[in-house]
Amino acid sequence: MVYKNQKIAEVAKTLKVRLDKAEDKKSILRSVELKALYDELKTMPAKDRASFGQEVNKLKSELEELVQNLESRTSNLAPIDVTAPFDVNVPEDKRPGLLPAENGSIHPLTREMTVVLDIFARMGFEAVESRQIDDDYHMFETLNFAEGHPARDDYDTFMTTEGLIAPAHTSTMQNRVLKAHKKRLENGEDIRVVIPGRVFRNEDLDARHEHTFYQLEGVYVGKGIHAGHLIATLKTFLSEYYQKDVEVKTQPFYFPFTEPSFEFALGCPFCDKAGCKVCGEGWIELLGCGMIHPNVLKMAGIDPNTYTGFAWGGGIERLVMMKYDIEDIRHFESAKLDFLRQFS
Ligand code: DAH
Repeated sequence: MVYKNQKIAEVAKTLKVRLDKAEDKKSILRSVELKALYDELKTMPAKDRASFGQEVNKLKSELEELVQNLESRTSNLAPIDVTAPFDVNVPEDKRPGLLPAENGSIHPLTREMTVVLDIFARMGFEAVESRQIDDDYHMFETLNFAEGHPARDDYDTFMTTEGLIAPAHTSTMQNRVLKAHKKRLENGEDIRVVIPGRVFRNEDLDARHEHTFYQLEGVYVGKGIHAGHLIATLKTFLSEYYQKDVEVKTQPFYFPFTEPSFEFALGCPFCDKAGCKVCGEGWIELLGCGMIHPNVLKMAGIDPNTYTGFAWGGGIERLVMMKYDIEDIRHFESAKLDFLRQFS
């Protein structure tokens, strides 16, 4: 806009330059320069007042419009949903923009899970993902927990109002996997499946306990399978994962779905069992395992007199925390970028 009055033209120029840089755009409308023009209007001779007043008002309207445009550009932008589908005919420049890939990274657990599944794939295990919502039948009944059995209390988790369960372990998948693959046994093949999955527990949270975490379940069934196969499988996996020949040991434990049941411990791969801040006293309890209980096989329609099998289940975070010296399990679900980016 052109202003005839020299002074007004100068104020217009100054304020427009300032507007560009100002963080609070509206502050331009309260500027001393603009106020001075209005003050001058009051005291000027009547004959000049009309044209001067008109131009000052024009400047004020122009500034108001500029401020409004700039503000709507910065604060009222519609959020972009980068996952929103768009028609293929939408021209390239009108499509939602993707954020630059440098801003994203693969979650450390996803990356490590790929490594873990790859090792098991090389041992002939197929991967089947577990579910994040399940029911009492798979959570307890198919796993040989009698109704009202006190061991149910170890799996305190969350429930929907309809009675569905956020699974507290990946063992909920055992019955499904056994049923789905039992034909293989009849064909003379073994069942070998690993089941990665997200699980939930009603925990008191601390550096070692999280309400949401990941487990890896393993199931192997065939003829003549025994505990030696179980130990050899896990030892091979751990030696491969830590790239080192590890020592392992088992001690008796109780799970309703295995007989016998074991707690499986790993000789600390970082201090060769001498004792360090990772392991404490040399051994690290890693997971639960055992020979699949005959009742669990029966529930899936597999004859326990012909076939036997082993199973295990353990947390993934623990493995990863040891590998990378991560001190707090809560980092994984924290969405803290400074934590996540260390693994990108
Ligand atoms: N589901 C058990 C838990 O979360 C771990 C477990 C123990 C899984 C023994 C198994 C098993 O498959 O055989 O505490």
